[in-house]
Amino acid sequence: MELVVQENIPLAPYTTLHIGGSADKFIVVTTKEQLHEVREYARVHNLAPVVLGGGSNVLVSDEGYRGLVVLMRIVGMQSEVKEGSVYLKVGAGEVLDEVVLHAVERGWWGIENLSHIPGTVGATPVQNVGAYGVEVSKVLTEVEVFDMESGAFSVLDAAACRFGYRDSLFKSPEGKKYIITSVTFKLSTTPAPQVAYKDLAARFPQADATLQEIRNAIIAIRSEKFPDWTAVGTAGSFFKNPVVSQRKAGELSALYPELPQYPSGNDEVKISLGFVLDKLLALRGYTEGGVGLFEKQALVLIADRGTRSEEVKRFAEKIIARVEEKIGVHVEMEVTVLESGE
Ligand code: EPU
Repeated sequence: MELVVQENIPLAPYTTLHIGGSADKFIVVTTKEQLHEVREYARVHNLAPVVLGGGSNVLVSDEGYRGLVVLMRIVGMQSEVKEGSVYLKVGAGEVLDEVVLHAVERGWWGIENLSHIPGTVGATPVQNVGAYGVEVSKVLTEVEVFDMESGAFSVLDAAACRFGYRDSLFKSPEGKKYIITSVTFKLSTTPAPQVAYKDLAARFPQADATLQEIRNAIIAIRSEKFPDWTAVGTAGSFFKNPVVSQRKAGELSALYPELPQYPSGNDEVKISLGFVLDKLLALRGYTEGGVGLFEKQALVLIADRGTRSEEVKRFAEKIIARVEEKIGVHVEMEVTVLESGE
């Protein structure tokens, strides 16, 4: 199939924030084989390719991208049952929630807590998507990648992906050469409800929920905390919850005993930024011009249609400065900023 290269394509419609300029070059990829041609095209034209999936975690700059945007649309699902486990191999361009529904309908346990997260499957290992007690790093066995430098396909296991909290190899400079083409999830036919997360535990005190009940509960919880993606510009949590030393966490809990804290490995502690923004800084629902923190969940940024990327960045920097001033903790954005390309 011949490669179709489009030019000056506005990126805002491909993102859930609905913000930002155009990509100089834009290629929709639907098969693995096309990636060889994409690599050749990028090499000949000396362009840096970036991949866009569902666009639910990206802030595109007003200037757009002076390079090549690859829209990942490789689809397909194959399942293999082995010793009570279902290995579900999913094309990177599949919509995550459709895959979750597919698994729930078949009685396959493991990813139901990820119901209604917007975005595509290929993006899930990049930022180790997680919600309500389940992280993708714990349920995937393999990530198939195309190496833009060597032109070879290979398979990485979970350890090779170097997962952390909202972090992975794919966010590091050495991981940038990879384009993810499929993800394999290890699911189970044996019921295993994961309902320890506070809001779920309250709904299922006996921990005896069915797959569909958990999915329904997650959808209900999310509808209370997130705006309607089809009507409002948003990228879910806009910032990462900060991870601090035990010493710092101790200082903070002495000052703010209610501040939720969670162990985060390496003797570190994750603190709830939503609580800080809401209860310590009274910023829940705070808006400036077309951008604000959602009235029902302060970690969620919302933006009106037509808001400039620069305005969002300035707003985010202000929020980061307010947190730093209040609790002496540096906050990072969770969304990826797509800019320049030169
Ligand atoms: N909180 C407030 N006020 C707020 C927001 C939160 O007091 O305005 C408190 C809550 O009451 C709760 C705590 O802060 O005690 C944590 O809030 P929540 O459970 O809503 O989760 P979160 O830490 O704000 C994270 C993920 C979400 C994921 C949820 C549920 C990150 C950056 N975000 O949010 O993931 O859905 O937990 O597991 O880790 C995403 O990454 O885009 C995302 C939506």
